[in-house]
Amino acid sequence: MSNSIQTIEVHTSPAYTVSIGSGLLRTCGAQLRQLMAPCHVAVITDSTVAPLYLGTVSASLQNAGFAVSSYVFPAGESHKNFDTLAAILEFLAEERLTRTDCLVALGGGVTGDMAGLAAALYLRGIRYVQLPTTLLAAVDSSVGGKTAIDLHAGKNLAGAFLQPSAVLCDTDCLTTLPASVFADGAAEAIKTGVLCDEALFSLFKDGTLTADPAEVIARCVAYKAGVVERDEKEQNERRLLNLGHTIGHAIEKCSNYTIPHGHAVAVGLAMMARSAERLEWTEEPIAARICACLVKNGLPISTEYTAAELARAASADKKRTGDDITIVIPRKIGVCELKRIPVSDLTQVIAAGWEV
Ligand code: NAD
Ligand code: GLY
Repeated sequence: MSNSIQTIEVHTSPAYTVSIGSGLLRTCGAQLRQLMAPCHVAVITDSTVAPLYLGTVSASLQNAGFAVSSYVFPAGESHKNFDTLAAILEFLAEERLTRTDCLVALGGGVTGDMAGLAAALYLRGIRYVQLPTTLLAAVDSSVGGKTAIDLHAGKNLAGAFLQPSAVLCDTDCLTTLPASVFADGAAEAIKTGVLCDEALFSLFKDGTLTADPAEVIARCVAYKAGVVERDEKEQNERRLLNLGHTIGHAIEKCSNYTIPHGHAVAVGLAMMARSAERLEWTEEPIAARICACLVKNGLPISTEYTAAELARAASADKKRTGDDITIVIPRKIGVCELKRIPVSDLTQVIAAGWEV
């Protein structure tokens, strides 16, 4: 793994820098001091990440002159809900954070999404910084300013757009990830390859991601940064980033959030590739290549939930407008397009890709 720190600028409002490399948690205090005067920093993290990294982050922030408090919630998607969000907001108020203070999201996508939403809501908006500790958060969720919690009706249904002030991605954190959580991140990175970059996709076909994760993270972040700069609020092009997510979110919901996001997205990606090929929407055969790549990286390509069950769960999806829903179709590896279909056709589209 290279020792150098790569940086990618994201030209949104506010603009910010994504830094990627080894040792960034140890130096996060000094990095934040370059962005802001000493203030009160509330670190939001989960019960798995806290014993691993909270001490390092708190010490670094304190050494740089910040006052630090921390809130630890129980790890897992089932806690990405109103109760946890409310508890975080009450904590911020008890700690008397003001508008010149800052939140730090230390963890995976669940922490980043929920801490980001707390930052958007508390005092009508305060700054936050992302310290992603999973591969998924590094390649995707820490960048772009989408924040959310799940509702009983579905995934990510309450949220806000708020860009972070900085993203510090310490690649050393990847060494403590269980293999299945690492694979969740591979699913989003493979999605990025299918969307825009056949060479990136090819890096995964031998399962060699672990050799140079910083390079994969940088390529995924650079692509996402460009999309987000052109379409920050997901009016058009950003919807492409939802490849595999309509089915993926439906699987998460059907499983009562016991199937992790990355695994569900992998199945969604595989099913959309098979559907697109069988419905003759692709320019060349792609499903076998995408499925082989997912399997090679420890990811599933099928589900026990029926096409009808998935279509019912997906009908509450954010990507629905009136009686239509926009899905993302892979045309070939590296090229995808948006397709608006009637919600009533969703079962048929999913059914076409259901059989392996
Ligand atoms: P997660 O945050 O639940 O992390 C997965 C597990 O890994 C958790 O148990 C966590 O405690 C643990 N963990 C985290 N870092 C660790 C480390 N370094 N070592 C050991 N264990 C560690 O899940 P995730 O896969 O990171 O993120 C999934 C979430 O991200 C979903 O809620 C999804 O909706 C969201 N997401 C958001 C966006 C966005 O743009 N905002 C994009 C993609 C996904
Ligand atoms: N992960 C989808 C997005 O950020 O738009």
